[in-house]
Amino acid sequence: MTCECHDNVPQYTLEEVSDHCHPDSCWIVYVDKVYDITKFIDEHPGGFEILLEHAGTDATSVFKGTGHTKEARDMLSLYFIGNLVEEERIYKNKFQKGKKCRSCLRKKKDDEKKQSISETVNTIVNSKTINS
Ligand code: HEM
Repeated sequence: MTCECHDNVPQYTLEEVSDHCHPDSCWIVYVDKVYDITKFIDEHPGGFEILLEHAGTDATSVFKGTGHTKEARDMLSLYFIGNLVEEERIYKNKFQKGKKCRSCLRKKKDDEKKQSISETVNTIVNSKTINS
């Protein structure tokens, strides 16, 4: 039932995440995904204290509850390190099979573009070879 896009990333239990609850190693869970935000602590516009208060925990509701903007949600991907193990996920619908995440859809589009460019280049090269 996991998202095909993210099957190959490390999986962590909530207990493992809970070991990373200090400034030297600060992880949080957001919507069943695990983020290492250690490098971000000092840059957080809402201050470092609040991050450390929730370090090592599932911070989904508190992150949502503090009304973060789309920019803040997008920033999370910079710190993504893996998923919660399947049996501890509570947002299973986000990982449904066949449902691609945004970054995978973007990658698919890029791959299609590259493919089409390389086909065009091949056509040009072939026609030049034939004509020469
Ligand atoms: C433990 C969970 C978190 C809590 C409780 C929290 C709390 C807050 C609060 C209270 C503010 C408002 C600051 C103000 O307006 O004075 C804020 C702003 C902000 N936070 Fe967090 N934060 C959390 C995690 C994160 C994470 C993981 C990121 C990004 C990786 C992030 C990015 C931001 C950004 C960019 C802002 C500026 C306003 C915005 O764009 O939403 N926060 N945060």
